[in-house]
Amino acid sequence: MHLSSKHLLGIRELLPGDINLILETARQFKDVLQRPIKKVPSLRDVTIVNLFYENSTRTRISFELAEKRLSADTINFSANGSSVSKGETLLDTVNNILSMKVDMVVMRHGATGAPHFLAKHIPSAIINAGDGINEHPTQALLDALSITERLGDLKGKKVAIIGDIMHSRVALSNIYLLTKMGAEVTLAGPPTLIPKYIRESFNLNVTYNVKEALEWCDVANVLRIQLERQNQVLFSSLREYNQAYGITKRLLQSLSKEVVIMHPGPINRGVELDSDVADSGQSIILDQVENGVAVRMAVLYLLSGRKDG
Ligand code: CP
Repeated sequence: MHLSSKHLLGIRELLPGDINLILETARQFKDVLQRPIKKVPSLRDVTIVNLFYENSTRTRISFELAEKRLSADTINFSANGSSVSKGETLLDTVNNILSMKVDMVVMRHGATGAPHFLAKHIPSAIINAGDGINEHPTQALLDALSITERLGDLKGKKVAIIGDIMHSRVALSNIYLLTKMGAEVTLAGPPTLIPKYIRESFNLNVTYNVKEALEWCDVANVLRIQLERQNQVLFSSLREYNQAYGITKRLLQSLSKEVVIMHPGPINRGVELDSDVADSGQSIILDQVENGVAVRMAVLYLLSGRKDG
């Protein structure tokens, strides 16, 4: 079984069969990760470079761990402390690294389209670990795995994506994935953070009333307010955001049913999500993080072209 693409640049390019294959392979790797010896030889002699031009905790650690569990050789590159500060271009940096015989590239970059640019210029398989406000495909895949573990098949499930949709690559990748797999999606949050082009391109439901979205959904994927990407005032204050759109225990207790709570991290506690919700039994946030390793193992393995398990 093969993916239809040589790279993982976004969920946009994947077929439903690709998504099912990645999720099924991730489930198999998750079984491996429960064993006393968690390492398999699948990517022995494969060299992978992790290129991080933007900060990361979860994605970076879980790619590194996934590579180690698959027995790959890994190189970690951070733009901070590299020759990027001396003016070296992205392509020069990558070509220099590739001349050291690298097989696969995992890349996070602040610019939308940076991994797509690399894919046009170098022969290695490229995995997008988040590009600007475009896509974060492995996050959507680990979110999907986490939903299926809690609620079963994605088809017909109701997912509310709540908060800063405008600046979120997690939102766009989730919208592509969930709609391709037959789930229903509602966007909720302040009007200033829900771009018209997204709701119209995907023909999605939108509400500015978070309680209404929570009453409708099975799962709420709560997004971080990305202050670092906002160069204009889009809501009055963080305190008022929490009051109007934040997910609080009191709000959840006022609903007629229990909703599964997700968040990609890092969380602004007390802004989009209160601590007593994030740390409650309704939250599957740490399951999402755990599933990130198995999903990234699956993606790396399937794109490597290796057939031995
Ligand atoms: N979810 C996510 O991408 O987190 P990091 O920025 O810490 O990798």
